[in-house]
Amino acid sequence: MQRDTEQYIYREIYNRLKEDILAFKYDSHEKLPSKRGMAEHLSVSVNSVKSAYEQLLAEGYIYTKERKGYFIEPLDKLIIDPHAHITLEAHESNLEEAYDFSFSHMSTDISEFPVDTWTKLMKRVFQNYDYYLSAIPHIKGPVELRQSIAKLVSYQRGIQCHPEQIVIGSGTNTLLMKLIQLMEDDVKIAVENPGYSRFRALLKQTGTHILPIELDRKGISIKQIKQLQPQAVIVTPSHQFPMGTIMPVSRRIDLLNWASQNHSYIIEDDYDSEFKYETDNIPSLFSFDKNESVIYLGTFSKTLMPGLRISYMILPSTLIKKFESQNHNMIPDFSMLNALTLNLMIKEGHYEKYLKKMHQLYAKKRAYLIAELNKVLKSDITIKDTQAGLHFIVEAKSRYTYKEIETRARDQKLELYTINRFSVKALQNNSESKLLIIGFSKIQQQQVPEAVQRLKKVLLG
Ligand SMILES: Cc1ncc(COP(=O)(O)O)c(C=O)c1O
Repeated sequence: MQRDTEQYIYREIYNRLKEDILAFKYDSHEKLPSKRGMAEHLSVSVNSVKSAYEQLLAEGYIYTKERKGYFIEPLDKLIIDPHAHITLEAHESNLEEAYDFSFSHMSTDISEFPVDTWTKLMKRVFQNYDYYLSAIPHIKGPVELRQSIAKLVSYQRGIQCHPEQIVIGSGTNTLLMKLIQLMEDDVKIAVENPGYSRFRALLKQTGTHILPIELDRKGISIKQIKQLQPQAVIVTPSHQFPMGTIMPVSRRIDLLNWASQNHSYIIEDDYDSEFKYETDNIPSLFSFDKNESVIYLGTFSKTLMPGLRISYMILPSTLIKKFESQNHNMIPDFSMLNALTLNLMIKEGHYEKYLKKMHQLYAKKRAYLIAELNKVLKSDITIKDTQAGLHFIVEAKSRYTYKEIETRARDQKLELYTINRFSVKALQNNSESKLLIIGFSKIQQQQVPEAVQRLKKVLLG
């Protein structure tokens, strides 16, 4: 036994005794040598033995009787199932990008993010908000951020709401899960088809009854909704995901009237409405609602970055109390530090400024990509271009199936999503016409020509 430090010696004694106890080298209730006796036997200090015995005592390997010494605690043998073997492979997640170019609709460009400003604001949060940082946050999030969001949505989305109605969360997905808990058991929820597949998958996991509803040229089919009578419907009216339709006012009114007559909810997923090109902002469905039928979901994943994990929902006043009482034991799942930093960013105008900058950058990239696609793929594609969001739809001629296109894109190291991913049933489309979801936020402008060439190879061979 090495005797470098007392700490090291104590760990050695402790480990040796523990192993021997677990190997049943001692009998139950057997008395251990006294501290002094053990110290002499091992030629170590009494203090080292004392520390080892105390640690074994704290962990329950030994017990003590007053003035009689230390004894071995009776233990059962730990059952080891010979069939249970750990299958976890030693694999680190691959941090290196698997793709050379990305047409992902889920990412954002963070190359212009004001890192210095964010860092300065975060420092101020440490200086001025220690009472928030050192305690468990309010379940709906800090009131300061809720006030800032209330002002933001009033200005950007025409929404008049009270900060009390706003709930901050770490993502639209988790907020949706909380919403579902507010609804009755066996709730039937209608979703757009094609639509946001992540919501569908999550709802399925909770056992929610999902009703996929077809789209027509105005968006979700009101005819099918009336036939199926769900308790809630999730829609993306400002920029249908993924098809891009902007729901016209006639369908909005139909939907709102259906909801109020049937006491159902409309969950408005307003995921990327901040970006509009050549048209002005499209008002939210929430702002049309006069009967408290709409629940609004908003996110900073598109305007700032998905990695921030800050989203919010705006509840009708009728659901606030229920939300608070159902969640009063929950600890919020978002970062308070980020939430308070974001609040300062909005309050002091940095957010608005950044949004303007990104708007210009995305508009430029989008126009450049569209021009390049039209130049290279000419009559093989039609761009179904809604002037909104961070993606558009390309209808492309290709003899390959959707599955083949996805595999070929992977082989070309091109991140590419097709409509197949967002439709309820896998599409066996044998016609030549294929729908692609082309996101333009992540790709850098200088990468566009090469990425489009690879897309051509994927589609045409
Ligand atoms: C249709 C749709 N809804 C919502 C979101 C936002 O999700 P979150 O707020 O959880 O990042 C996204 C993000 O990509 C989306 O594509």
